[in-house]
Amino acid sequence: MKNGYRTNACNVLVIGSGGAGLRAAIAAHEEGSEVLIIGKRIRNDAHTTLAAGGINAVLGTVDPEDTWIQHFVDTYQEGYNIADPKTVEILVKDAPNRINELIDWGTPFAKTPNGDPDQRYFGAHTYRRTCYAGDYTGRAILSTLLDKVEELNIPIKDMTYVSKLLVDKQDEDYQCFGATAFDIVTGERTVYLADSVVLAAGGHTRIWRRSSSRRDENTGDAMRLALQAGCYLADMEMVQFHPTGMVYPESLAGTLVTEAVRGEGGYLTNFEGERYMKNYDPDRMELSTRDRVALANYTEISEGRGTKNNGVYLDVSHIGKDKILEKLPRMYRQFMESQMLDISKSPMEVAPTAHYSMGGIVVNAETHSTNVKGLYAAGECTSGVHGANRLGGNSLAEILVFGKISGEEAAKFSSNLDLQKRNREIIKNADLELDNLTKKGDELARPLQRAVRDIMWKYCGVVRSGKGLEEGLNELMKIKAASSNIDVRPNAEGFSDLAIALDLLGSIDSAEATIRCAIERTESRGAHQRSDFKDTSNSQNVNYLVHEESGKQVVTSRNVAHLPKELEEPMKKVNDLTVDGRLLE
Ligand code: FUM
Repeated sequence: MKNGYRTNACNVLVIGSGGAGLRAAIAAHEEGSEVLIIGKRIRNDAHTTLAAGGINAVLGTVDPEDTWIQHFVDTYQEGYNIADPKTVEILVKDAPNRINELIDWGTPFAKTPNGDPDQRYFGAHTYRRTCYAGDYTGRAILSTLLDKVEELNIPIKDMTYVSKLLVDKQDEDYQCFGATAFDIVTGERTVYLADSVVLAAGGHTRIWRRSSSRRDENTGDAMRLALQAGCYLADMEMVQFHPTGMVYPESLAGTLVTEAVRGEGGYLTNFEGERYMKNYDPDRMELSTRDRVALANYTEISEGRGTKNNGVYLDVSHIGKDKILEKLPRMYRQFMESQMLDISKSPMEVAPTAHYSMGGIVVNAETHSTNVKGLYAAGECTSGVHGANRLGGNSLAEILVFGKISGEEAAKFSSNLDLQKRNREIIKNADLELDNLTKKGDELARPLQRAVRDIMWKYCGVVRSGKGLEEGLNELMKIKAASSNIDVRPNAEGFSDLAIALDLLGSIDSAEATIRCAIERTESRGAHQRSDFKDTSNSQNVNYLVHEESGKQVVTSRNVAHLPKELEEPMKKVNDLTVDGRLLE
C-alpha cells in the first residue's frame, strides 16, 4: 500500500459495537445514511452482554399507577441533583417506545401471566418498572440489535481499534471527519473518512482493581479519544460502585452479582448474621440506592464485620431453586461453575466493585452532539443522565434512547453537509502516532495497567480523601511518565500489544480526569464519598468539567442546569433524603 493504510468512506461512522453503537447505526441507516460500525471486540461480545438484571421503562404492566414523572423524580433525586434534567426527561419519556420496539424485534422479555412484559423491582424505584429476560437482559437485547443490524446489511468491522479521531482544529470551529484504526489481528491500518461520527465506546471502570468489566473493555479509550478531539468530560469523579461483586476466585473478583438477586428477595448479612441494611436505610433495606448499599457493604467489611474473604453474605436460598433457575439462571451457573457453590442452598459472598461511569463526554441533551462538529456520543461514555448515582436498569434504557437519537442526528448532519471535510496533514499525523507507539521500550503495558488499577482502588475507591487523592495523582503521574517507554512489538499473535498500549493510555487519561475532579469535589455526594468532607454542600451543586489545553488536563466547573418549571412541583413533594452524615466510618 502506497500510504501504509487503506481508506474507507461512509456517511456515519459508529465507534463501538455495544447496544448504544448498534442502536445508533440502525437509526442512521433508517435516515438513509451509509453506515459502518467498528468494534474492538467480536460483535456479540460487547460489554452490553454482561448487563444482567434489566431495563427500565414506565409500562405500568405490573404497577399501573407508575408515570414518567415518577421515573423522572426517582432518577433525578437519586442522582443527587447534578444530572441534566432535560436528558433525564428525554430518557424516561422515550424508554417505553424503545422497549416496545425491542419486543417487536423479538427480544424475549419475561411476561406476566396475561402476556404483558413483566416488571421487577430494582433499588430505589418507587414502582416495578424493570423489564428483564432472566438475568441475561443485556445479552438478549444485544442479540436482537445484532439481528436487526444484519437484516439491514449494516457492515461491522470487528477487532478493530480506533487510535484517533480525525478532527480539523484549524478554526475555533472543530470538525470531526472520521477516525484512524488498525486491525488487532493483522495490523492493517485504515483511515475511516466519515461525514459524522458516533462515539459509543463505553466507560472506564476497568481501571479499578475490582471491576465488573472484563479485561480490555471499559478502559477509558472513549474518554481519551474525546479529550484529544477537543471535547469536554463532566462528572468523572462519579463512578458507580455496584454493591455486589464476587470476591473470589481472584481471577473473577469484581464480577457482577446482579441487583436482581435483591430484587427477587435476596438479603444481605454480615459475619454476625445481622441484616445490617436496617442500620443504613431501614425503609428500603437491600433495595436502597446503589451508593448507599455499596457504602454499607464497604463499611461492614472495613469495620471488621465481613466474611473471611472480605465480603458480606448475600442470601437468596429462601426463594427456592425453581424460582432461582427461572429468574436468576446466570447467577446460579456463575457460582456453581466458579465456586462449586449452590446458591439455592448457601449464601454468596459479595463486595463492592467498580461498575459504571456516570460521568463522561458532555453532550447536548436533545441531539447528543458534542462541542466538536460532526461528533456525537452515546451510552456509557457520556454524562448527563445519572448525576451522582445511577438507578439500576437505567443504563440499558440510556443506550437505546440516546443511541437512536445520536444516530439520527449524525445522519442529519451528514445529509446537511455542503462540503466534506478532509485534511491530509491530520491523517498523516494520526498515522505517525501509531508508528511512534510501535517501538521497543523498557516498560510493559500490562503491569502498568495493573498499577493504575491498584492506584484507583487504593486512592479513589468507595471512600476517598484529599490526601489520598493527591498521593494517587502523584503515583499516576509516574505511570504516565513510564508509559512513554512501552515495549510494543507486533508478533505472530498479532497487534494486541499495540491495542493494550492504547488501552493503557486511555486508562491513564481517564484516571487522571477522575482523580482531578475528585480532588475538586470537596464534599460527599452519592457515589463520591470523602472521609474529609462528609457532608453534601449546596455550594457544590456543580458539574466538574475536564478538557485538554496543550495536551494538559484542565478542570473547570459549571452550575447544574435548572429543573424545568413543570417538574419543580413533583420534585418538591419528594422527601428530602438528606445525605448528611451518611459516611459511617
Ligand atoms: O445489577 C445489575 O443487574 C445491574 C444492572 C445495571 O447496572 O443497570
